[in-house]
Amino acid sequence: MSVVINPIGVDFAAEIIGLDIGSPIDDATRDEVVATLDKYAVVVIRGERVSEQAQIDFALNFGPLDAINGVLTTDIKRRVRAELTDISNMDEDHALLDLSDRRRLFNLGNQLWHTDSSFKRVAAMYSMLHAHSVTPERGETQVCDLRAAYDSLDDEMKARIEDIVAVHSIYTSRAILGFEDFTDEERRALPPIRRPLVRVLPGSKRKTLFLASHAGGILGRPTAEARLLIRELMEHAAQPQFVYTHNWQVGDLLVWDNRCTMHRARPFDEAKYERDMRRATVMEADAGDVHIEP
Ligand code: OGA
Ligand code: MN
Repeated sequence: MSVVINPIGVDFAAEIIGLDIGSPIDDATRDEVVATLDKYAVVVIRGERVSEQAQIDFALNFGPLDAINGVLTTDIKRRVRAELTDISNMDEDHALLDLSDRRRLFNLGNQLWHTDSSFKRVAAMYSMLHAHSVTPERGETQVCDLRAAYDSLDDEMKARIEDIVAVHSIYTSRAILGFEDFTDEERRALPPIRRPLVRVLPGSKRKTLFLASHAGGILGRPTAEARLLIRELMEHAAQPQFVYTHNWQVGDLLVWDNRCTMHRARPFDEAKYERDMRRATVMEADAGDVHIEP
């Protein structure tokens, strides 16, 4: 398969043209997608909507998938296959979620800048989000480049953060929005995880920040001081020059490298429109350099 790589809008996003995610790909094509993600960090592949099986098969070219998808486990019926994460405002009968539904309130946390699964034992590498239905207005996804954000820090800040270890928890990002409605079982399933604040990427060897709204503390620092520093870095990274905004079409596959980006959903009229996206999440093959044991 011969594909064309077209940079889009910003210097860290590219569209891959000539790639059909519904068909098997050869190793050379897979390697080209990986090289494009190493160089850019965000990849857009446009085409027809494909089945859940086809999306899973495509994602498996890049590594094992996260097997545990969904944080809310109490009284939840799955709408999508277990290998995928449901990124929608719909219930298992494909009806719009009530605006006060616990799932909807939890999902609102996706509107905070975050990386996927930094709060899990093994973090996410690639997120591959496929659009089944999109909103006629708003509902974009934004991604920011944490390598460029790191590069543009001054030397004093780079020295200050070099050896910092941050603590990530899904309950931190949800608490920012006042969402605390978790069962004890749900809380026990995802204890806090330690991660370096600065890391070197294995593919490009570039340094990057490792940040998310899930980060709520820094080892050895008072919480208030830690949160101010995390907030300062997140505000820096979210400046317009580091941000790509994706306007969705049905059939799009948006891929981002969670090791060097943050992303967020933008709001839309959830009482009026359905937005149905499903995410396959490729795990880091070897996260040993990232995860720090408690
Ligand atoms: C995700 C996510 C943002 C969006 O799929 O992990 O955060 O725009 N999505 O739906
Ligand atoms: Mn996400």
